[in-house]
Amino acid sequence: MSEFIDGVITEVPQQYSPAGELDHRVHADDHSNDWWRHAVVYEIYPRSFADSNGDGAGDLRGVRSRLAYLAHLGVDAIWFNPFFTSPLLDGGYDVIDYRDIDPVFGDMAEVEALIADCHSYGLKVIIDVVPNHSSWEHRWFKEALTTEPGSPAWARYHCVLGKGVNHELPPNNWRSVFGGNAWSPVKNADGTDSGYWYLHIFDSSQPDLNWDHPDVHKEFEDTLRFWFDRGVDGFRIDVSHGLVKAAGYPDYPQHADRAKRSAGGEIIDFEPLPHWDQDGVHEIYRAWRRVANEYEPMRAFVGEVWVDTAQRRAKYLQHDELHLAFNFGHVGAKWDALDLRERINEALLHDKAVGAPTTWVLENHDVPRVVTRFAGVELPKSSGDGDENESADDALRRLAVLTPEQRVVGTRRARAANIYMLSLPGSAYLYNGQELGLFEVVDLPPQFRQDPVWFRTEGKVVGRDGCRVPMPWRNEAPAYGFGPDGSTQSWLPQPSAWGALSVQEQQGRADSMLELIRTAVHARKSHEAFGETDFIWRDDIAEAIAPGRSDVLVSEHGGAGNRALVVLVIGTDPVDRPDSELLVASQPLTDAQIPGETCAWFSLS
Ligand code: NOJ
Repeated sequence: MSEFIDGVITEVPQQYSPAGELDHRVHADDHSNDWWRHAVVYEIYPRSFADSNGDGAGDLRGVRSRLAYLAHLGVDAIWFNPFFTSPLLDGGYDVIDYRDIDPVFGDMAEVEALIADCHSYGLKVIIDVVPNHSSWEHRWFKEALTTEPGSPAWARYHCVLGKGVNHELPPNNWRSVFGGNAWSPVKNADGTDSGYWYLHIFDSSQPDLNWDHPDVHKEFEDTLRFWFDRGVDGFRIDVSHGLVKAAGYPDYPQHADRAKRSAGGEIIDFEPLPHWDQDGVHEIYRAWRRVANEYEPMRAFVGEVWVDTAQRRAKYLQHDELHLAFNFGHVGAKWDALDLRERINEALLHDKAVGAPTTWVLENHDVPRVVTRFAGVELPKSSGDGDENESADDALRRLAVLTPEQRVVGTRRARAANIYMLSLPGSAYLYNGQELGLFEVVDLPPQFRQDPVWFRTEGKVVGRDGCRVPMPWRNEAPAYGFGPDGSTQSWLPQPSAWGALSVQEQQGRADSMLELIRTAVHARKSHEAFGETDFIWRDDIAEAIAPGRSDVLVSEHGGAGNRALVVLVIGTDPVDRPDSELLVASQPLTDAQIPGETCAWFSLS
């Protein structure tokens, strides 16, 4: 037992500071009313959360019927994925009308009731806005299709003359994120090719909007106000980094040419790709921030900012732009102490430099479930069918049918990772089902698959459906309580394991993932050491409780009088247990030890 563990240390310790380590203490500014800086936000994929009418698709009335569950869980806010009118070719990220509701989900009265209900439970409401592209069924795109390329209607999109003698080749080498070409031909009225192409960085049903056009600016600023006027507390901004395209639509540079190096040859930054992270995008968010500032209390923006470095992400978080941006570095973290620590340091360093809190996220509707990611599945270097470029996530989604043993490992690590995330300073996001320990469903029959990634790659990349399988509320096949009594449908089939993972089975069971998350969320809220507070590594304590090991992270959180210690044991061997009051632990501790693959919080107050 170290001195510290015996309770000898009485003052806030100095930052542990080996070369390159950082002081993660927060700014002195008063942000006490800025709920978004420390909120626990629960992401709802409306199609998969709760189905009120038995049609197999979740809806807003279903959400309303489950708000008590979320209030009990203790979250502060809900982020809703899109529920606007849409052909749902990309799960609603293909919007027809940004100010109307798709009948699958409900209607405007239902949304207004939902916002009111959320507020009555003390839950803030964040909705999605999708400004990079519209649906091809949006009135603007339909109007463009009735005109010749070059018309004012086409100017709201990116409609560009192709290359080649007859313009039969796309204008450049840009690829769709979902696979294939990022350009589709614009046809003449008689069905022949016009030689022009329209840009879609995602599916061809999602034409990119042209943010050089004043109509586009007005449409979205009006949309922000429309929803703010209806009580929405904030927006999550889809593809925040993608709105502005480089002038002239240049080809992608060679990857090697993108790296910017220091005099010593070290990579310090990357030249952004011509369709991502262009400087012009910041002016858009400065204008949006002025809109948010018109409201009292101020409304918040959280950006989906996928950029090359934490430094580039932080540019979006300057005081006159977005309030938050997902720290996707954390999503990419491996079950590895050094990797995790570096990612934490990097995020805190750069966010703090602009006075922004960090936004922690392990799961969302686009990435494989964390139980599966941490299950220790061995992946081949390439997919085996000649595709050297298959990402680790894609391989997992295709191959990771977990054995019972792998599920046990994945779940144990996910328990630790989830509560570790909830201890970190800033705000934290939970994705529906994460609190139940759902795993990625990798064996969905092809006829159920809906992700455009699946179609655009002809099934080579299976896509994201496996993390969108509807929630199990009760242990009752076939729909596991997803719909009303007697309903049998869910838009994606649920595995039989969903029964044991259902809310009904986990609620009130002390060793369940659900009760663990609930305990951690409440502990975080009731203990002032957590939220947006100081954070320092305590390698001295790590050394005392686990001498000579590098697979244990120990950090101290909070300020004078309200301090907590968080221990994350990544390795399988136990460590000594600090002699302090236990707040929450992801596995039972013994009197003397914290077991391996466990996270535990202790109060030092
Ligand atoms: C990011 C969203 O999270 C994802 O689900 C969607 O497919 C793309 N943006 C395109 O809108």
